[in-house]
Amino acid sequence: MAGPNRILVWDGALRLFHWSTVFLVAAMWWTAENGIMDWHKRMGMILLGLISFRLVWGLLGPRTARFTSWKIGPGAILGYLKGLTGGAHKPSFGHNPVGTLSVIAMLLALCVQVGTGLFSVDVDGLESGPLASLVSFEAGRQAAEIHETAFNLLVILIGLHIVAIVTYLVFFKDNLVRPMVTGRRASEDFEGGETLADSKLSWPRLAIALAVAVAVMWAVFNGG
Ligand code: HEM
Ligand code: HEM
Repeated sequence: MAGPNRILVWDGALRLFHWSTVFLVAAMWWTAENGIMDWHKRMGMILLGLISFRLVWGLLGPRTARFTSWKIGPGAILGYLKGLTGGAHKPSFGHNPVGTLSVIAMLLALCVQVGTGLFSVDVDGLESGPLASLVSFEAGRQAAEIHETAFNLLVILIGLHIVAIVTYLVFFKDNLVRPMVTGRRASEDFEGGETLADSKLSWPRLAIALAVAVAVMWAVFNGG
């Protein structure tokens, strides 16, 4: 796949994070819907690890994954929108400025979802998140209320995410999904300033991010 004219945009860890999150969010909905709460909580712990990893990867990962390289200032957004409406769609090396806003919203919504799940208690106090014993029953119920509301918000954001991806495919003939699967897209799509250093993962940094994710899971597992 790594032909001479294909360039890496998304590192393997970020792609694994993405598709595992897609699978797990669907599984979280399904398990909650069917009352299979032991699996809901087990898979919730894995999501906690994944989201912790992504937050650290936003600090340590390659440029396309790193939060400080994301451009979301008004100038960047207006410039990008002008290009789009002017019919001059230019693929972005990484998230485009508007996409970045939706990515930030989704990551935040996932944090709220997982964070409140940890403290949630159901009405009769039978089903509770791993940290629920640290808070009062009322606070646990409040967390569960937010958990439910945040889920609706997450579903809306995921819906917008998919509509945006289909829009790029249909109206701008830009397939964003393939790079999220293979990591790569044609280098002719870009102006030529991009290098592998912008997107290649570093193994020592990956080890640090994974260690932090495991430490967070361990702390929660032993903290309730
Ligand atoms: C549970 C559902 C989903 C969630 C929570 C989700 C979440 C995310 C997040 C957080 C990112 C940013 C990646 C990062 O920088 O960490 C992202 C990007 C992306 N997602 Fe999803 N996603 C979901 C479903 C899907 C589906 C079903 C598809 C494909 C049809 C998809 C395709 C993509 C693509 C192509 C990108 C990269 C967009 C770009 O080029 O800027 N996602 N998604
Ligand atoms: C993206 C991640 C998650 C999603 C989409 C999700 C979704 C849901 C949904 C839809 C419900 C049912 C709300 C209701 O109708 O009562 C629920 C309940 C619950 N979730 Fe999650 N959840 C997630 C993460 C977690 C995590 C990480 C934990 C803890 C480890 C957790 C623990 C709970 C508990 C204890 C309940 C029962 C609360 C109640 O019945 O009021 N969830 N979740």
